[in-house]
Amino acid sequence: MNGSSPKVVVARSLPEEAGLSLLRARYELDVGGAELDRELLLERVRGAQAIVADPTVTIDRAVLEAAGSSLRVVANFAVGYDNIDVGACAAADVTVTNTPDVLTNATAELTVGLMLAAARRLIEGDSLVRRGEWRGWEPSHHLGVELGGSTIGIVGLGRIGERVAELLRGFSARLLYASRTRKPEVEERLGVEHREFGELLGEVDLLTLHLPLSAETEHLIDAESLARMKPSAIVVNTARGGLIDTAALIAALHSGRLAGAALDVYETEPDVPAALKELPNVVLAPHIGSATGSTRAAMAKLAAENVIAVLSGVEPLTPVTA
Ligand code: NAP
Ligand code: GLV
Repeated sequence: MNGSSPKVVVARSLPEEAGLSLLRARYELDVGGAELDRELLLERVRGAQAIVADPTVTIDRAVLEAAGSSLRVVANFAVGYDNIDVGACAAADVTVTNTPDVLTNATAELTVGLMLAAARRLIEGDSLVRRGEWRGWEPSHHLGVELGGSTIGIVGLGRIGERVAELLRGFSARLLYASRTRKPEVEERLGVEHREFGELLGEVDLLTLHLPLSAETEHLIDAESLARMKPSAIVVNTARGGLIDTAALIAALHSGRLAGAALDVYETEPDVPAALKELPNVVLAPHIGSATGSTRAAMAKLAAENVIAVLSGVEPLTPVTA
């Protein structure tokens, strides 16, 4: 690639075949690698026309200033974009893109898997067997609850929340939802009943979160909302860690005020509080909602195509609006 090609900085990495190769064929490519060094990133982005970020990469004013006026697009390798200061990008005339739809099914399937794991105490059971402490089948040993017949509350009935509802229909669960806007068509098609958020909390056996993290949604689940839930309830979070006040969740799980939780995301990733790890009634996944080979490839392709579109002067496929 000669020196006059636009510079594209991939803050960390993208799958090679589906993502990097598309970019390498057209641009001068700077690929970071697994470890993110913030100071180094500020140097690397200088003069870049595009930055490919992911949920671990904060794109704030400092990054935009370091990149300078050449920067035209920040393409997130994720659907959630709480890592990006979208307002600052708009002010700097930098387009922001994300990767919706292509990861919806993978994330919804993981959500249902976490629900089952928590409801049937699967990880506790696995650990019992591995420790050699299992004494054989017992009439009332290791009892859990079934999704069938349970009332499940979906908070945020967007792409992933709706797919979770579709998958759960097969379990004959009763489905409730709370969301920013009502979805009469989805209510009708999937038999999901609308509730105000506060009302929904007290009715559900499982609560699952599928809304973005923002100033408005941060700590949506706090001590007050947990106190409104049934003590037998389970909270599932595959959206963003900041939606839950972790200290309040730990206190509720510890005191028996809440029966269980299954989490894929955390407030301070990758640090997970020791108090959470010590609780037997919690399932902990390492932020793998979209982590299947085919989904990550589709996300990489979409992120690369968004970069190519903006640098070619056409509308990106999946822009984020401020
Ligand atoms: P989406 O289609 O935009 O759905 C989000 C839903 O939340 C929308 O229905 C939206 O309402 C609703 N909402 C927004 N603000 C709200 C508020 N203050 N109160 C109640 N509802 C609110 O997004 P998605 O594609 O389903 O993704 C959801 C989130 O999942 C992402 O933002 C991301 O953080 C997370 N995620 C995590 C993983 C993972 O690896 N664990 C993977 C993918 C996504 P409207 O319909 O009115 O807009
Ligand atoms: C992953 O967390 C995403 O938002 O795509």
